[in-house]
Amino acid sequence: MTSTTPGTTTVVDSIGLLVTGDPELGEGPLGTIRDAALVIEGGRVSAIERAGASADERIDAGGRCVIPGFVDSHTHLLFAGDRSEEFAARMAGGSYEAGGIRVTTDATRAATDEELLALGRARAAEALAAGITHQEIKSGYGLDVPSEERLCRLAGELTDDVTFLGAHLVPAEYQGRADDYVDLVCGEMLTACAPYSKWIDVFCEIGAFDVEQSRRVLEAGRDAGLGMRVHGNQLGHGPGARLAAEMGAASVDHCTYLDDGDIEVLAASDTVATFLPATDFSTREPYPDARRAIDAGVAVAIATNTNPGSSYTTSMPFCIALAVRDMGMTIDEALAAATSGGACALRRDDIGTLAPGAQADAVVLDAPSHAHLIYRPGVPLTRTVIRRGEVVLGSVPER
Ligand code: NIG
Repeated sequence: MTSTTPGTTTVVDSIGLLVTGDPELGEGPLGTIRDAALVIEGGRVSAIERAGASADERIDAGGRCVIPGFVDSHTHLLFAGDRSEEFAARMAGGSYEAGGIRVTTDATRAATDEELLALGRARAAEALAAGITHQEIKSGYGLDVPSEERLCRLAGELTDDVTFLGAHLVPAEYQGRADDYVDLVCGEMLTACAPYSKWIDVFCEIGAFDVEQSRRVLEAGRDAGLGMRVHGNQLGHGPGARLAAEMGAASVDHCTYLDDGDIEVLAASDTVATFLPATDFSTREPYPDARRAIDAGVAVAIATNTNPGSSYTTSMPFCIALAVRDMGMTIDEALAAATSGGACALRRDDIGTLAPGAQADAVVLDAPSHAHLIYRPGVPLTRTVIRRGEVVLGSVPER
């Protein structure tokens, strides 16, 4: 990491195309500006100027495109073990089953804190190289009190958006006693995990938790002061999206199966529909029709859902490319969904754009425009990553 001296200003200069993410600041829905300079002070964007602006330190973008860092609002970053055989079986015609979560739970329980943190840090570094400057991280591969508490605590070393997901699946030792497990999640487990967490989440799906169990989990989390999130409508139509909207959850994630009624309810709510296209890729589910949701007025986000079972990728550009190619999103909509959309799904207004005052999280792309993220699928285009005003990957600033 290259750290700037406190009180100094840094300019990212000679930006061919600056995507501010704020339509008020430039052209089109992404507020783009040509031949721009981004001035940073104290870890925040202090001004946007014409190219050629001066500051104490200078990063030369060389006419390239600069975008806000991606905000990944859905990851399961902390886990041990490998499920590539399960993936290979799916590619040979098998189907995805949520029960695979238990395989990862066994491996995760057996790992030490140091091993889990090292794995999480390596995945976070991989995500940074893909341009992700902020990640939400869920627990959910512990499924007992000490293991869930440990995952929330360790996640807190990597992010300030930690989600307690004790209600990910009923663990083997509670088979046939799902309601007893929900009691544990809402009681002792929540008490242990809440101090480390900002959010509570529940997997509301056939094979995981039903709507009443899910409501209990959300209510308990809310009463403990946590914000609410829901995994829903992943493997079939179900009540997750409507429950999320009714409860005032910040986001319902997956949304692979949304009917007209779900879309109407979401459009009238403050709940973001977060699409996870790499999951639909990896589980061979159909891609959702994001166009229909957007046209109806639903606020949307795109996230990676990094996890070993249904989406083992940290590549937001891959997710964006799928959303444009197969979900009916425009290039601008997909980029917004992966930046300001992700921030909105985390109810944050300090990240996801490059407006003056925002945290200076920016990516210099090795490309003249953000369209290249989709136009050149699979090609690493991240040249420089700046987080809180510091260069954390790539070019060193000139003084
Ligand atoms: O978001 N849906 C539930 N949880 C993860 C899958 C986890 C796994 O299969 O290990 C998801 O897709």
